[in-house]
Amino acid sequence: MNFIDLIRIKRDGGVLSDEQIRWFINAFTKNEIPDEQAGSFIMTVFFNGLNNQELNTWTDAMVKSGERLDLTSVGKPTVDKHSTGGVGDKISLPLNPLVASLGAAVPQLSGRGLGVTGGTLDKMESIPGFNILLTNEQMISQLKTVGVFVTAAGVGLAPADRKMYSFRDVIGAVECIPLIASSIMSKKIAEGTASLVLDVKVGSGAFMKNLSSAKQLAETMVKIGNAAGVKTVALLTQMETPLGRAVGNVLEVIESIEILQGKGPADVRELTLALAKEMLELAGINEDPTKALDDGRAYATWIEMVKAQGGDPNVKLPVADKKEMIVANKSGYITKLDAYAVGLSAWRLGAGRVKKEDDVSKIAGIICVAKEGDFVEEGQPILELHIDDESRLKSAKEALQDAFEISPEALEPRKIVIERIA
Ligand code: URA
Repeated sequence: MNFIDLIRIKRDGGVLSDEQIRWFINAFTKNEIPDEQAGSFIMTVFFNGLNNQELNTWTDAMVKSGERLDLTSVGKPTVDKHSTGGVGDKISLPLNPLVASLGAAVPQLSGRGLGVTGGTLDKMESIPGFNILLTNEQMISQLKTVGVFVTAAGVGLAPADRKMYSFRDVIGAVECIPLIASSIMSKKIAEGTASLVLDVKVGSGAFMKNLSSAKQLAETMVKIGNAAGVKTVALLTQMETPLGRAVGNVLEVIESIEILQGKGPADVRELTLALAKEMLELAGINEDPTKALDDGRAYATWIEMVKAQGGDPNVKLPVADKKEMIVANKSGYITKLDAYAVGLSAWRLGAGRVKKEDDVSKIAGIICVAKEGDFVEEGQPILELHIDDESRLKSAKEALQDAFEISPEALEPRKIVIERIA
């Protein structure tokens, strides 16, 4: 294959054959293409996109660049959820045990947080002893017994994507819907789940800032999933304001446990239940998730999962002893509490990382003491900053300069679920 021909075809708006795409993904993964040519080719895709057929082949080639887990021996319907990431988005923590408690198997292969949105693995690691490195045998065994696990995706899964994602990062080709969609879906298809619910976030604290791009991403991923034989549905959900009250690793685990005990913030509960209904429907399980959340079944499955992965579910989780309040500068209704600003501030406090290799603080983060729609008196606390490293406080506070607005009139509450894409 003459690679310059492939670059020219895409550069000039042409369509690539299945064979050309498979050849590229294979050679790229094996480091057989010089970086300048690979970069140039990926940039032509960035500008000219991929049609449905090209995208399905591209994704399939990325899946086939590594192993695909075979979960057929689990003996239960498999279903997973993927979120595109948001501030305070801890939904996987209560959701997965909830769905597993009703008979589904939830194979959650997760990532670490990068940027202002946190990662499930970082959150779970705030539980002392929790092991996020399971072997394939351990995964299958835990799905049979507990019905759910959380683990890091192994290096054998979609290696083409691992290389492509870091490559896109350094050539400025991350923000491209076909490349994002194939990247996310190749990992989810490779994990072996039979069905998948996507939570595509939209708003200031999300990857997708506006509704039309979030919708386009959701539609693209749903099409890829279904074409690959994975039943896929997406919900577009709000990310203009943080989800729940807790932002930061251990704080989000604590809030998730409250949800699993039938308590916790209403928006987290609402989204957990909306996603659980979608997952159960795809899994063909006709059960009411509300009951399982309120009668302790979901919490019992969480405890089993934590124990199975080496954690102590009864341990007192560590919380920062240094805290600082950000207070209302006047009385009125909170009409804006910006997800990006709160996420950035929590990240600067140490809850998130700058580079993949960085450690994160378990205890740093923010509690939204008041939320959009609440009435506050002047001087009343709005945000409680949990401090691990005091040298980070100044820049964390600077991120909050325009984080909230207070007005005499309240606004309509935001809808949590904006649209369903099937
Ligand atoms: N997350 C992914 O896994 N891939 C992307 O391209 C973007 C976000």
